[in-house]
Amino acid sequence: MKFFIATDHAGVNIKPSVIKLLEDMGHEVMDLGPKDNTRVDYPDFAHKLSYEVLANEGTQGILICGTGIGMSLAANKHKGIRAALCHDAYTAIMARAHNDANVLCFGERVVGLGVVESILEGWCKTEFEGGRHAQRVAKIEIA
Ligand code: RB5
Repeated sequence: MKFFIATDHAGVNIKPSVIKLLEDMGHEVMDLGPKDNTRVDYPDFAHKLSYEVLANEGTQGILICGTGIGMSLAANKHKGIRAALCHDAYTAIMARAHNDANVLCFGERVVGLGVVESILEGWCKTEFEGGRHAQRVAKIEIA
């Protein structure tokens, strides 16, 4: 899988470890910034990443801020983006299996690296189940 990743200043510290975990799992990761912890506005990076995921079919995104909330709110403004705020492996697995989520959000101030590793493993190993879930996911877009 090819992933785009972006954060704000409150998510930038954990980013190198997240990239390494993904690369060790065999995934390609493109970092959309920021490079340091200078204060930035999370919607700028959520929108930048969302445009990339939508423009590159078959890719997914990872957005990290302090809580993951702001990133998920901003990314979900894009038609075709299904950003899921995940706090553990279970929510990550269900976001993929039932919601066909294509952007994973979490909060650096909420979860530690051990939990993040289990989130990434759960997300990456889980395929969308389709079936009855496909019609529900389709209904998300009509609002
Ligand atoms: C930054 O202080 C913080 O508000 C941001 O990272 C995020 O948690 C917003 O949802």
